[in-house]
Amino acid sequence: MKKIAVLTSGGDSPGMNAAIRAVVRKALYHNIEVYGVYQGYLGLINDDIRKLELGSVGDIIQRGGTFLYSARCPEFKEKEVRQKGIENLRKRGIEGLVVIGGDGSYRGAQRISEECKEIQTIGIPGTIDNDINGTDFTIGFDTALNTIIESVDKIRDTASSHARTFIIEVMGRDCGDLALWSGLAVGAETIILPETETDIKDIAEKIQHGIDRGKKHSIIIVAEGCMTGDMCASELTKYINVDARVSVLGHIQRGGSPTGADRVLASRLGGYAVELLLNGETAKGVGIKDNRLVATNFDDIFKTSERQINQRMLGLTEELSI
Ligand code: F6P
Repeated sequence: MKKIAVLTSGGDSPGMNAAIRAVVRKALYHNIEVYGVYQGYLGLINDDIRKLELGSVGDIIQRGGTFLYSARCPEFKEKEVRQKGIENLRKRGIEGLVVIGGDGSYRGAQRISEECKEIQTIGIPGTIDNDINGTDFTIGFDTALNTIIESVDKIRDTASSHARTFIIEVMGRDCGDLALWSGLAVGAETIILPETETDIKDIAEKIQHGIDRGKKHSIIIVAEGCMTGDMCASELTKYINVDARVSVLGHIQRGGSPTGADRVLASRLGGYAVELLLNGETAKGVGIKDNRLVATNFDDIFKTSERQINQRMLGLTEELSI
């Protein structure tokens, strides 16, 4: 293998830059030329591909976002469009492609490896949602989690000063991990997840019970994949008379300097992706399981039924929020 390329695709996540850096530096260390594909699959189609040097990835390990830019590119699902992208890699003699992104980005990589046997593809899980099979953690999840914690800690000051019930809507698409982990970390009274049944009446009774015991304020974390914060507030106030406020944290959760955990994870996974390419592996996603680097076939990543929510953690949040 003499030449590889790297791209970031889908929603950006903190730590993507650290992953690109690791891919580039590890490859250069092994005398492999590296190309950056700008704007994800869109740049692949439009031939926005530039050679990267050691200096191209200097001073980025601490930066959020992705200096390669990212895009959502539904057109890449079409075979003729993909052929253009494949041709742009081929004409440069690129034999390996590292795709940093989520599930949809992995599917594009899988198609490339199916349709062009000379190009090996490896996926690195980059999304704040923590919703990719084949890894315990995705790059960006820890930073987003810490952003939520910091924000909720601030909101709690107002909640307690005004004796209010705050409903905080967090991201995660169809996955409740950000809500579950942040809920546990901020000591939320209630966490509403897409993976579990939600009975707002029960939640209202629990909040009322707390008020009766002298609780002055409450924090409810709601995952966007289950319902919006506004829906939750209007349902809740049908049952109880509380001064409820909604805070939608939004894209603030996707930004910021990556945490130490995300930088380390990104560096390890980036280096491992290059190792796999050097070993002739293809159509695999890298990940971390029980603190060990693992590689899983894309097929198995897609086949595995939905990620399960951690029931022990969920049970614990219930026990701790009585
Ligand atoms: O996948 C990351 C994510 O931030 C989700 O949590 C969220 O639902 C979605 O992307 C938002 O996408 P966009 O930035 O395209 O609005």
